[in-house]
Amino acid sequence: MEKSVYILGIESSCDDTSASVICDNKILSNVVANQEVHSKYGGVVPELASRAHQQNIVPVVQQAIEQANIHKKDLTAIAFTKGPGLMGSLLVGTSFAKSLALGLQIPLIDVNHMQAHILAHFIKDDEESKIPSFPFICLTISGGHTQIVKVTNHFEMEILGETIDDAVGEAFDKSAKILGLPYPGGPLIDKYAQLGNPKAFPFTKPKVGDLDFSFSGLKTGILYFIQKQQRINPNFVKENLHDICASIQYTIVEILMEKLKNAVKKTGIKHIAIAGGVSANSDIRKRLLTAEKHLGWKTYIPKFEYTTDNAAMIAIAGYLKYLNDDYADVSVTAKARLKVTE
Ligand code: KG4
Ligand code: ZN
Repeated sequence: MEKSVYILGIESSCDDTSASVICDNKILSNVVANQEVHSKYGGVVPELASRAHQQNIVPVVQQAIEQANIHKKDLTAIAFTKGPGLMGSLLVGTSFAKSLALGLQIPLIDVNHMQAHILAHFIKDDEESKIPSFPFICLTISGGHTQIVKVTNHFEMEILGETIDDAVGEAFDKSAKILGLPYPGGPLIDKYAQLGNPKAFPFTKPKVGDLDFSFSGLKTGILYFIQKQQRINPNFVKENLHDICASIQYTIVEILMEKLKNAVKKTGIKHIAIAGGVSANSDIRKRLLTAEKHLGWKTYIPKFEYTTDNAAMIAIAGYLKYLNDDYADVSVTAKARLKVTE
């Protein structure tokens, strides 16, 4: 039997410091330290994020190794997020991974964060884990990205459509901010929407290309609507929070589903995955399951812990690259901008 491969994954691209140990394609630990410091600023403050990563990285990596019940010397390789993300944040993970790999004299593997969100679908924690077959379409929806990607194999991806302005996570977070909710507002909109009427307030959907997205107009539409209602009733948001959240969520998820249907029509591919922080949203998850029943799609919905930023996805991407002997050398540098195809 082949010897098991143990890879430590490190993620520090934005405001979560995370480390994970994977044994072949099975996750042994996935530790995430969220940075509370940003919530009162209504968004991520890059300088604060970088400083928090520096404080968190050593204890987070230590915990991941302890929880995996292994020793540092058992590690086969170190995988880290090279980009895209905030430069100051990426540098913390990159330099830590480099020094650890050098110290342990094991290979270093650089991972593209956007590919990793998609590759999280290849984690096989148990018999129930549904692994996609190629080719499939992945709707990658996060705080920084909104893309429809055709995935031909683990590392061959093509962007079929993407946002021309805001990302869908930003649409959730900025709408939440208008409603006076703290950052990140996406999960709160989802929570309040549960008890609301999704058709209470109709918002206009944007007009863009078949597979492209635009969310900045929707955000402005929501802002003007709320301002107008508040002039009539200053307590409008408080009195209608559930209905407003349900209506915002309904409009956004309608847009996402419409684009996925366009992608299926255009490519003929009915294997559909979702990835990224917004794939935690309960409504998009429900709507995909309905599509599986009624449209004959085969859908892949990640476990909650693999939706928002986490190092388990970096570890599985690292494992897949390891199998391809695809390593980085110590001259590798962090890249704030990096396409899913790079
Ligand atoms: O993938 P992620 O953790 O970070 C980026 O790479 O951007 O995504 C974070 C985004 C945030 O905008 C957050 O509000 C959104 O994911 N999000 C959600 C939900 N959970 C997280 N949006 C809507 N509904 C949710 N349940
Ligand atoms: Zn992400």
